[in-house]
Amino acid sequence: MSTSTTTTGAGLEGVIAGESEICYIDGNAGILSYRGYNIHTLADNAKFEEVIYLLWHGTLPKPDELAKLKRALASNHAIPFEVVAFLKGVPPGAAPMDVLRTAVSMLSLYDPLARDMSPDANATKATKLMAQTATIVATFDHLRKGTEVVAPDPSLGFAASFLHILTGKKPDDVMEHAFDVALTLHADHELNASTFAARVTAATLSDIYSCATSAIGALKGPLHGGANEDVIKLLLEVGEADKAVERAKDMLARKIKIPGFGHRVYRTEDPRATHLRVMSEELGKRTGHENLFLMSQRVEKTVSEAKKLNPNVDFYSASTYYSLGIPIDLFTSVFAISRMSGWTAHILEQYKNNRLIRPRAEYKGNPDGMPWIPMEKR
Ligand SMILES: CC(C)(COP(=O)(O)OP(=O)(O)OC[C@H]1O[C@@H](n2cnc3c(N)ncnc32)[C@H](O)[C@@H]1OP(=O)(O)O)[C@@H](O)C(=O)NCCC(=O)NCCS
Repeated sequence: MSTSTTTTGAGLEGVIAGESEICYIDGNAGILSYRGYNIHTLADNAKFEEVIYLLWHGTLPKPDELAKLKRALASNHAIPFEVVAFLKGVPPGAAPMDVLRTAVSMLSLYDPLARDMSPDANATKATKLMAQTATIVATFDHLRKGTEVVAPDPSLGFAASFLHILTGKKPDDVMEHAFDVALTLHADHELNASTFAARVTAATLSDIYSCATSAIGALKGPLHGGANEDVIKLLLEVGEADKAVERAKDMLARKIKIPGFGHRVYRTEDPRATHLRVMSEELGKRTGHENLFLMSQRVEKTVSEAKKLNPNVDFYSASTYYSLGIPIDLFTSVFAISRMSGWTAHILEQYKNNRLIRPRAEYKGNPDGMPWIPMEKR
């Protein structure tokens, strides 16, 4: 029985599911660009706040526009005390992505603009989400460790400010720059699963907090953003390069997916991995974690030779984040902090020119007309 005129492969592979002006990917040529600016150009030149502006507005910010955005992010840093109370009360051992998902959802309850769907209100809420996601992640980490929540220094840029409120230390220029680039590289990626989830929610004209909550739920999965945590756990567990190679071979032989490899769209190297590999090596040398880079490199060679699979964004971001001093179980949450820029850009774009996203399924079940079976005869 067929219910549709067009069928697709599993997982909507290759399906063009909507129009967007935000992000371009050519998976065969290994090209990624935001609003026409190639990711290598952005990684070499942009500050993350410029990328946020670019994703939201489509142009690079002029000095006054950038200053205004920075002020808006700084002034929206604080989260409602009810959300802080929730963060204090989460059960021990709660998964940070579950906490983040719930806390972001809670933000709507304390935002007077929550139900205002005007473009201005939605832009303001996007700014709040951008600033407050970082605050939630850092505040939760302090509360669970019993360390003092760090007040932000408004003179710091987004990247330095987050490392400061998370670790209590202001990063030096090298660490700040590395994290800034990592944020830029993770900012957007077209209709990846979480962004698609956000757009599907937006297309029902639900509020932006609901859209962001949908996205965080999708990012959490190990096939998506959850992979960066799995990568570092694997590297730390095996501990040395030879063992890492053996583990990778064993996983391949048993057809277990190795986290941080493969991609639905790229058939070449993921252009984000090109930068993260360099950062992993540089920061590893600097912080005494070069071993993680060397292990990663050996695993990459093994997986590439055996299966022709390339590392994706999550593979070298794992060792990069580790060297930046980010707690392992916050890796996916840190991905969410950056991707909030892309999610919100896509949500605002969806609102601007909306039509409900409602595809069909190819029905494979029983034919219609099954006779009813009384309870006693089942
Ligand atoms: C990203 C991912 C979900 C893409 O999935 P997909 O497009 O559905 O690709 P498939 O699962 O159909 O994989 C295609 C082939 O590559 C293999 N493959 C893909 N990723 C693999 C991995 N990480 N390790 C080992 N083999 C992998 C599959 O086993 C399959 O091989 P086969 O044709 O011999 O059966 C997948 O590569 C994956 O699970 N990677 C690990 C998780 C991860 O890093 N996610 C972050 C993505 S940015």
